[in-house]
Amino acid sequence: MKRTMLAVIVTLFASATALAADPINGKQIYEMHCAVCHGVGGHPVLPSAPSFAKGERMMQPDTMLIESIENGKNVMPGFLGLLRTQEIRDVIAYLRTLHR
Ligand code: HEC
Repeated sequence: MKRTMLAVIVTLFASATALAADPINGKQIYEMHCAVCHGVGGHPVLPSAPSFAKGERMMQPDTMLIESIENGKNVMPGFLGLLRTQEIRDVIAYLRTLHR
């Protein structure tokens, strides 16, 4: 019984570590794929793109943001197949650092 509990704790810890988003990696991905429209530091270049520097659209939970980024929205192309979900999580973690 005790050994089972320990295995569960170890498994939970390992998966939590794997899922932790990395905003440093997210910044690199953002600058490569997103900054062309959303701008350096989240100051948009494209007038219709939300300003992440002002925290626009960021009140949504990560799951909804991931869906928009994977499937695209109006002018924005979808990134499904180009970025892994974990990479998108990293970008979102970075976006959440831009508004202060
Ligand atoms: C071709 C320009 C373009 C690129 C490249 C682009 N976006 Fe966008 N993005 C937009 C525009 C325009 C909107 C506003 C869409 C709308 O609601 O009409 C938007 C909206 C968003 C939103 C808000 C979605 C919502 O549900 O409200 C997020 C988050 C976002 N972009 C993240 C990203 C990320 C992350 C990347 C890079 C992986 C990226 N975008 C690349 C143009 C772009």
